[in-house]
Amino acid sequence: MSFPRLLVVDDDPYLLLALRQTLELAGYAADTFANPLEALAAVQTGKRDFAAVLADIRMPGMDGMTLLAKLKGLDPDLPVILITGHGDVAMAVKAVKEGAYDFLQKPVDEETLLGALTRAVERKRLMLENRELQARLAASRAERSAFYGLVGAHPAMRQVYALIETMAAAPDPVLISGETGSGKELAARALHALSAAGQPFVAVNMAALPAEMLESELFGHERGAFTGAESRKPGKFEFAGSGTLFLDEICSLPLHLQGKLLRVLEERAFSRLGGNALIPLQARIVSATNHDLEEEARAGRFRQDLYFRLNVLPLKIPPLSARKEDIPLLARHFAEEYNLLHAGQPVLLPQNFLDRLTARSWPGNVRELRNEVRRFCILGEERQVSLSPLPLPDGEPESLKAHMEAEEKRYLLTVLGRFGGQVSTASAVLGLSRKSVYEKINRYGIDLDSLRQS
Ligand SMILES: Nc1ncnc2c1ncn2[C@@H]1O[C@H](COP(=O)(O)OP(=O)(O)OP(=O)(O)O)[C@@H](O)[C@H]1O
Ligand SMILES: [Mg+2]
Repeated sequence: MSFPRLLVVDDDPYLLLALRQTLELAGYAADTFANPLEALAAVQTGKRDFAAVLADIRMPGMDGMTLLAKLKGLDPDLPVILITGHGDVAMAVKAVKEGAYDFLQKPVDEETLLGALTRAVERKRLMLENRELQARLAASRAERSAFYGLVGAHPAMRQVYALIETMAAAPDPVLISGETGSGKELAARALHALSAAGQPFVAVNMAALPAEMLESELFGHERGAFTGAESRKPGKFEFAGSGTLFLDEICSLPLHLQGKLLRVLEERAFSRLGGNALIPLQARIVSATNHDLEEEARAGRFRQDLYFRLNVLPLKIPPLSARKEDIPLLARHFAEEYNLLHAGQPVLLPQNFLDRLTARSWPGNVRELRNEVRRFCILGEERQVSLSPLPLPDGEPESLKAHMEAEEKRYLLTVLGRFGGQVSTASAVLGLSRKSVYEKINRYGIDLDSLRQS
């Protein structure tokens, strides 16, 4: 273990010697200088790491105050303790204001000296440790390839992670924009995890409900507010509590509700339909759009004032085509996700498959990529279209329509069979709505029950 090294400056050679002896006995290494300029040069060369400086205030050539200023310029973390004569207290106080760590009065009492030095050295150690920690954190941030469920190491995604982190600290509304399937909801959830973990995350899709229902869904209603309102029902503003209210597809919010939402944001309060009581809005509003909302506002399809209110903190998610380097990483992530859920041989993605994925354009973004990888995990290469001619079955060749239907039924059976007849999983893999999957099941007379049992 090495001793903490001190820099000691005093023009009085006897005092300097006495100080050095005291310090060395106490376990320090001391570099002593009678000339402040030489002392400064010793720090400037950077050859030695000093844990602290002990300096007289009154010296010829350069006084302690000037030395202090110069030392701070070289190394702001280096603690400087000044030694003052009897009449210099005012100056010492000024020195502390200007960044000296402490001051000691002559004659210097040994215990006070060593006490001050222990604290100064400890402080320097903590500062260094903190600086290293910060540097390590910054480095790990710059290297990370995933962030609260978002996968991606592309600089554009890392910037998204950094922005989410910054935005988490503020309560203001966030507007997330990006193409369909690019990860807007995932980003909203990441923001929530960082800012309101443990609180509710309530998502409402503005496009999914007719206007009247949407209004009562958001605001809630009192009993008898409208025909059919048989009991009081809290709305999403209320359910979100002090968590996050995620307003998805905000563009589809009907105009009269845009006005109402604006008022809620301005007053930070709302009332249930048919009620008067004002309830404070505590949740953070995060909205999402895959349209250019600014353009919509300019074209008069969205209220400009509401746009400004929602867009206090804008978060843009780049389309997958702008971060193609992440495609193999994402594909492997989705294959792993599949492997975790399914027993048996884990699926490995061959390089030529990854290359093909990377070369494609992805209008459906990460969602489309995920579906493609899942199809591969389930069906493997058998899905790869072969362009070599198929042998014709005996007898009359069938029509294309009949052939396609037979093919469709076979594929549907394969996928449903693989998932034990679970329509929701199969529909995700097939890229179809559950409704269309059920229609096809009926059309082809597929027996779901027997698939579920086998
Ligand atoms: N960076 C990512 N890492 C891992 N999975 C992702 C990423 N981005 C999106 N996904 C996945 O892709 C799918 C779509 O993501 P999400 O629902 O967040 O997209 P979106 O932008 O809200 O789409 P839409 O506009 O259609 O609502 C989800 O299954 C999600 O988990
Ligand atoms: Mg979404």
